[in-house]
Amino acid sequence: MQMTSIGVVGAGSMGNGIAQVAAQAGYEVTLFDISEIQLDKALSTIQKSLNKLQEKGKLKESSQAILARLRKTSRLEDFKSCQFVIEAASENREVKFKLFRDLDAILPAGAILTTNTSSISVTEIASKTKRPDCVAGMHFMNPVPIMTLVEGIRGLQTSDDCFKRVKSVAETMGKVFVEAKDAPGFVVNRILMPMINEGFFALAEGLASPKDIDTGLKLGCNFPMGPLELADFVGIDICLAVCEVLYRDLGDSKYRPAPLMRKYVEAGWLGRKTGKGVYVY
Ligand code: CAA
Repeated sequence: MQMTSIGVVGAGSMGNGIAQVAAQAGYEVTLFDISEIQLDKALSTIQKSLNKLQEKGKLKESSQAILARLRKTSRLEDFKSCQFVIEAASENREVKFKLFRDLDAILPAGAILTTNTSSISVTEIASKTKRPDCVAGMHFMNPVPIMTLVEGIRGLQTSDDCFKRVKSVAETMGKVFVEAKDAPGFVVNRILMPMINEGFFALAEGLASPKDIDTGLKLGCNFPMGPLELADFVGIDICLAVCEVLYRDLGDSKYRPAPLMRKYVEAGWLGRKTGKGVYVY
């Protein structure tokens, strides 16, 4: 049976981006969040992004037609006939474990449950359900409408059929799918976060100014953003959380988070979302 609808859990910056690309791909999308305010904010962000893409002629149909495929809900029970869910709630183990237990009880048998986690074990999330073979990781990159990668993560229990369907959904969304093992940070964050972390060590040592650290990497390596700019863009709290997981789970001191990164988080200087991180916005 052709799958036509997708449920997205969490209306933050990743969740709204995922809901948008799913609707752009032709799926009927239900976006869930516990906060109505967050849902309204998400729909307005999606509208702005679609308008921007429409102005540039990058949409196959009108932004209105795409928006008409999106609906919001604050009741998880509205997923009861959903065949495919992408969870993008906050990066907190207990929150995700509870959501997966609840979704497992609500969704029809055989429905697929995926998580956009950037650092929590997919195998452990899957173990909270009675359908661990139907659970996989689907790691999108920020900003989701622009970045073409999805890292697919196969938990120890993920079946071949489930993983094939996850790949097919990612490709229908126009994304390139790479397969990564279920190990801390998968591939992208395993390599990206130590670079961002090193940016904070360099800043703490006074190796160069923030701007020169970023310009060095931008012009020297052709990166679109330097490590400190990117930390502000992703959220310094998210970067710290991933670094903590790499350090704890890989048990190697080379992954220890830079104390300065921790200080920024303690100060509430989380980056663009709080108006101040390494830079002021
Ligand atoms: N919707 C629609 N269009 C968007 C958009 C959105 N959400 N965000 C950006 N754009 C468009 C802009 O309109 C612009 O289009 P044109 O070139 O046609 O004018 C284009 O994207 C570039 O944007 P900007 O001109 O505003 O700025 P930029 O050239 O600096 O690009 C960027 C912005 C795409 C974010 C770029 O800086 C970039 O690629 N940065 C690196 C992002 C990155 O590394 N992401 C991964 C983070 S790690 C992660 O996500 C994983 C994790 O688990 C933490």
